[in-house]
Amino acid sequence: MKFFVDTADVAEIKDLAASGLLDGVTTNPSLIMKSGRPMLEVIKEICAIVPGPVSAETVATDHKKMLEEGRKLAKLAKNVAVKVPLTPDGLKTCKALSTEGTMVNVTLCFSAAQALLAAKAGASFISPFVGRIDDNGHDGMALIEDIMTIYRQYPHFKTEVLVASVRHTGHVVRAAKLGAHVATVPPNVLRGLFKHVLTDAGLKAFLDDWAKTGQSIL
Ligand code: E4P
Repeated sequence: MKFFVDTADVAEIKDLAASGLLDGVTTNPSLIMKSGRPMLEVIKEICAIVPGPVSAETVATDHKKMLEEGRKLAKLAKNVAVKVPLTPDGLKTCKALSTEGTMVNVTLCFSAAQALLAAKAGASFISPFVGRIDDNGHDGMALIEDIMTIYRQYPHFKTEVLVASVRHTGHVVRAAKLGAHVATVPPNVLRGLFKHVLTDAGLKAFLDDWAKTGQSIL
């Protein structure tokens, strides 16, 4: 399973990339706004840090302008994945960009039917937003299960399921159990994956005992 980080904070990305666990990055207009920096500059910078796919989102809603934006974003670096919304214009743009050889991440997916359409449009990634579904009183992970079941029936689909809007480590573990290809996670959730109270307690006990031996390895 691949781990992407869902942020436009370059300092965070640099730090997490150093762990060797980062396979890509996703951004969106809200995350760019949070970074307080010009989008094109930030995307270029991130692409130079992380060799894997870096999602950069279009903001036009009509196909013609969205395609123009997508082509401009794709020119920033070889590893840009252009993000388009799951709308008729978005999927038309997805088809056009994919045919040109550009990676496309179809975002704002909330149903299995939408995920089916994105695969048919040649998306490299489909982004179902599990956290926002949970926030609305439904089970986001049930959608991942449905999409994985559907995609498995059609081995010629090349679209990877990118679990998005991840809120906690439980989402990541369930996504992995379902065989989802990617999870994009906020930095705090990615760091949370390392944590277990028994790891901390066990390490402390070992180091306390080691100190009592008076030995050193080096
Ligand atoms: C994915 O690409 C989106 O940027 C992101 O996961 C949305 O998450 P949110 O629901 O926490 O805003």
